[in-house]
Amino acid sequence: MHARKLCKMTLLLLILTFVLPVLSSPSYSLLVNDRIIARWTNNLYYPGKVSATGNGLIHVLFDDGDRITHTVRDISAVIPDQQPSHVKLGQHVVATWKGGHKYYIGYVSQIVSGSRPFKVTFDDNDEDYYQAHQLRKFPDHQTAHEVGARVFARWTNGLYYRGFVARANSSTVFIRYDDGDTIILHKIDRTAVILDKLPCYSHIKPGQRVIGFWPGRTRYYPGVVTYKRPTGLANCYQKAVYYVVFDDGDRRMQDFNQIRIIPCMTTETNTNESV
Ligand SMILES: *[C@@H]1O[C@H](CO)[C@@H](O)[C@H](O)[C@H]1NC(C)=O
Repeated sequence: MHARKLCKMTLLLLILTFVLPVLSSPSYSLLVNDRIIARWTNNLYYPGKVSATGNGLIHVLFDDGDRITHTVRDISAVIPDQQPSHVKLGQHVVATWKGGHKYYIGYVSQIVSGSRPFKVTFDDNDEDYYQAHQLRKFPDHQTAHEVGARVFARWTNGLYYRGFVARANSSTVFIRYDDGDTIILHKIDRTAVILDKLPCYSHIKPGQRVIGFWPGRTRYYPGVVTYKRPTGLANCYQKAVYYVVFDDGDRRMQDFNQIRIIPCMTTETNTNESV
């Protein structure tokens, strides 16, 4: 249904969403001994400090004595241990679970009144409430094909699981899933690797191909938004607004944080993943 037009509009919106913020976003540079939270090989984050920098690399010494090296261009690998000045609904964050020292990735899914106003829905579907000073902003990459991009990547069963782009070359990306599995996917198939970035209410039109949440599952399922509930609100992030008909026939009304846009194919060739 109007797929071509929808694609053009999506492209424009992608430019507005991803390119413009880059021009205005403040860049930070990390210095030796700065307190940070860095990604480990299990896709979780742990506290530590910067032990050295140079040649485009950041060397990290974790508080438990382990070490890891990330590239500066992987903007989500090493996060400054600074409390955010302002936390908004839909903010991508990392936070600890019940006072532990591992940091998990999630989204601020609701803001309530009370002493811990920020409800975080983690990528494993756990939820808890936080104060602003307990949250750290998770930096979003601009495209799904950059090293360090937080993505949903299509597995061999056609369903989408979360992971990070661990390596990339001109034609393929190497994905490390949160459960430890890996896969190589072709960049030319833009539907294979999807940036884990929340769409805005105004960007979703009926007919939009998406991946969506199903209760109790962490994998996302492909489908179509067949109906968008009119709310009279312009807010990007609204609850129970997207009616998704999944390719397997299931249906569900979805919140703002429960769908992601499947990008349009750039070519007719749909190359299959290979390992
Ligand atoms: C990119 O990586 C893939 C998988 O490792 C490999 O098969 C391919 O030859 C590489 N392409 C280039 C241009 O280096």
